Amino acid sequence: MTMSLPTKEVSMLKGKRIAINTGGGDAPGLNAVIEAVVMSAYHRNWEVYGIKNGYTGLLNTDEIVRLTPEVVRRISILGGTILGTTNKGNPFEMPIKNVTGDIEIRDVSDRVIQNFKRLRFDCLVAVGGDGSLKIAYDLFRKGMPVIGVPKTIDNDLGGTVITFGFDTAVSTATEAIDRLHSTARSHERVMVVEVMGRHAGWIALNSGISGAAHVILIPEIPFDIDRICDHIMEDELHGDHYAIVVVAEGAAPKGAKALNKGAGEVGRQDVLLGGIGGFVAQEISKRTGKDARSMVLGHLQRGGSPTTFDRLISLRFGSAAVRLIENEKFGTMVALDPPNVKAVPLEQVIGSIKSVPLDSDSIQTAKDIGICFGD
Ligand code: F6P
Repeated sequence: MTMSLPTKEVSMLKGKRIAINTGGGDAPGLNAVIEAVVMSAYHRNWEVYGIKNGYTGLLNTDEIVRLTPEVVRRISILGGTILGTTNKGNPFEMPIKNVTGDIEIRDVSDRVIQNFKRLRFDCLVAVGGDGSLKIAYDLFRKGMPVIGVPKTIDNDLGGTVITFGFDTAVSTATEAIDRLHSTARSHERVMVVEVMGRHAGWIALNSGISGAAHVILIPEIPFDIDRICDHIMEDELHGDHYAIVVVAEGAAPKGAKALNKGAGEVGRQDVLLGGIGGFVAQEISKRTGKDARSMVLGHLQRGGSPTTFDRLISLRFGSAAVRLIENEKFGTMVALDPPNVKAVPLEQVIGSIKSVPLDSDSIQTAKDIGICFGD
């Protein structure tokens, strides 16, 4: 079944037809962006259509859904995304089974563009992180009008002070760290918490400081395991018989690469990271003789309702995206530049990882209050 199309006259009367998709790993706030886009478009007499599962919904158009105020009303408080998402659907590098049953990587982006034009969409609002926004930019270069909205719990996307989803992830991680203090103290143990953060240590840094960690390990600062052990033993001398170590999944010892679990599913653009928490716990135990346990916080950080901050910023991003469409600022991304939301060219954003600056106030604060980075 394909979507029924309005006649040209009806389409013109009704104003613009906007498509929206959510791509990559989910993040709390996606539904709030969708609600704001739909409501802002509705008040301009425009129509919004939801593309399912990232860009794959523009290849198989059967599941495209009309998003009306009735569909999206009050979804801003819900986690996840009503449109579904995937990190395997890059139309420029789509894994497709050939006649012999082997997987071939093919560029099917022309089909995406054709379907977009056939459905008479005026713009795609692409909500995603670096990978999804790179696809949006490549489609823009092929003639598709797009507006990007920055999402990732990792907060590692350039061009914007903050991405939505990050604040919720930090709150979840902080709450988990808070809870570990009592059990670690009771057993005089070292508890190592592995949090997300592939390329940048924002979640580890912010939750580690807020959760009163003893040690924070981030990708930006390669660590020396002996320095960490010395710090834990010094704290021990001062009466702290337990320790909390917060480690970003992308952190690595000096001279080593981040630990990974391989390529993951077919069509995935990046390797699955993980394992550094277990490694750090094992090494600390070996060297200090203390009990050490590790836990991986994993996808808990992506789940649940968005915090107040993430709800607000997601709604502001969605509404700003519609204003950018109105002003035909295609090929740009909405970005937070406090107190304003502005537009930045997608070209400037993609591929630019926003790392934690080593001279940042947060790193300095952490060091001043006695937190060790293993450097
Ligand atoms: O959203 C980014 C991220 O949370 C990374 O920190 C993490 O490595 C990755 O997603 C995990 O993705 P997946 O859900 O595909 O395992």
